[in-house]
Amino acid sequence: MEADYSDKNKALAALYPAHIEALRVRHDHALETSGAAHAIIFSGALKYAFLDDRDYPFRPNPHFLSWAPLTGLPLSYIVHTPGETPVLIYYQPHDYWHPVPGAPDGYWTASFDVRVVHTLVDVAQHLPADREKCVLIGEVEDDAHAFGIERINPTAAVNILHYARGQKTEYEIACMRLASQRGASGHRAAEMAFRDGLSELEIHRAYCKAVSHTEDELPYGNIVALNDHGAVLHYTRFDRKPPAAIHSFLIDAGAQVNGYASDITRTYSYEDARFDELIQRMDATQLDIIAKIQAGIDYADLHVETHRMLGQLLADAGIVSGDPDTLLATGVTSAFFPHGLGHLLGVQVHDVGGFMSDEAGNTIDPPSGHPFLRLTRSLEENMVLTIEPGIYVIDMLLENLRGTPAESHVNWDEVDWLRPYGGIRIEDNVRVTAGGCENLTREAFAALS
Ligand code: GLY
Ligand code: MN
Ligand code: MN
Repeated sequence: MEADYSDKNKALAALYPAHIEALRVRHDHALETSGAAHAIIFSGALKYAFLDDRDYPFRPNPHFLSWAPLTGLPLSYIVHTPGETPVLIYYQPHDYWHPVPGAPDGYWTASFDVRVVHTLVDVAQHLPADREKCVLIGEVEDDAHAFGIERINPTAAVNILHYARGQKTEYEIACMRLASQRGASGHRAAEMAFRDGLSELEIHRAYCKAVSHTEDELPYGNIVALNDHGAVLHYTRFDRKPPAAIHSFLIDAGAQVNGYASDITRTYSYEDARFDELIQRMDATQLDIIAKIQAGIDYADLHVETHRMLGQLLADAGIVSGDPDTLLATGVTSAFFPHGLGHLLGVQVHDVGGFMSDEAGNTIDPPSGHPFLRLTRSLEENMVLTIEPGIYVIDMLLENLRGTPAESHVNWDEVDWLRPYGGIRIEDNVRVTAGGCENLTREAFAALS
């Protein structure tokens, strides 16, 4: 049966007004700081392939999406003026070539003064007359879409909005809980397809069917990797045939509800007990990392600590030898774990603001030697983020260890054993609380069984 999330919207309706109030407060602050009177949030425009009339899938401005769950509404605008009900200029073109957005409908409509327009010219009359007092937030590639507003994405305002998006409202967390449930149902279907010996493409289709998403609706391209494909961190090809011998399956796939994403990875052994044991070690290590999450901890420190924990895991499994500090210092752990521990999650899978130390736009660099870490902030309550440790046999990285002090710490025969399995990643989405966290992903899987 395909997933249906429409009835869940009743619960979201109760949480939505407080979410809008939080947005109003942060936009008031952004306006005050930038000396403007109105924030105009543009949903974005369709983009077309070069020399073609085919449009790319529409990706709305994430700021627009965080105001309203309108994932398919190009050329529309939200007008926020402090103290007034926000205006939604809802663009519903007269077009018989393409489906057009239906009449505004849903729990979110009560929070807006909705003005349906059928031509772009009509947008202008619903914007504040004094364009000099407006700031426009959005991607404007065609001047006509700015309607004479000159202050587009002013840095001070955008920094405030980006920083604030790091902490989610209860409404956003409810959407993300549902996105986790939706994703977990897809993961369950994908695992069954893997156990049935199907191809990557067939597994991908089983996933999309279970979550009831078209490919364009997925929050990111599914990674469906059999065997050594799991070592390609962003493996987004789909082989049409299953491999002659099936060893392993790594799937990194999410789902979305009202534009809010989940981002989940699981790894499975087909029938090899030793690889399965390594997966269980990773699962336990991932939970140990998650047990350290709470408001106030430094995520960059946790990333470095994860390297030590993965060094210990690799040593316990006989793949490397040495103590965790040495394995970290010599670059052994980086060769096996070459990506970040995780990132903020929201209306964007890699949500903005992960490097920001304050709303003024100051940033914190990733630690030296860890350039791919996307989250360096100290954790605060109601941040939602991923925890996704992994180990892989990536020969181009492991070969770099030859001739260095790291070489003698690698048990190369054991690397040869692991290579056909590709790698292991376990990725959960957690919501930070004062004294711990809520694991959206584990709870979603538990609710399935
Ligand atoms: N699926 C992309 C990521 O895990 O960051
Ligand atoms: Mn992922
Ligand atoms: Mn991720």
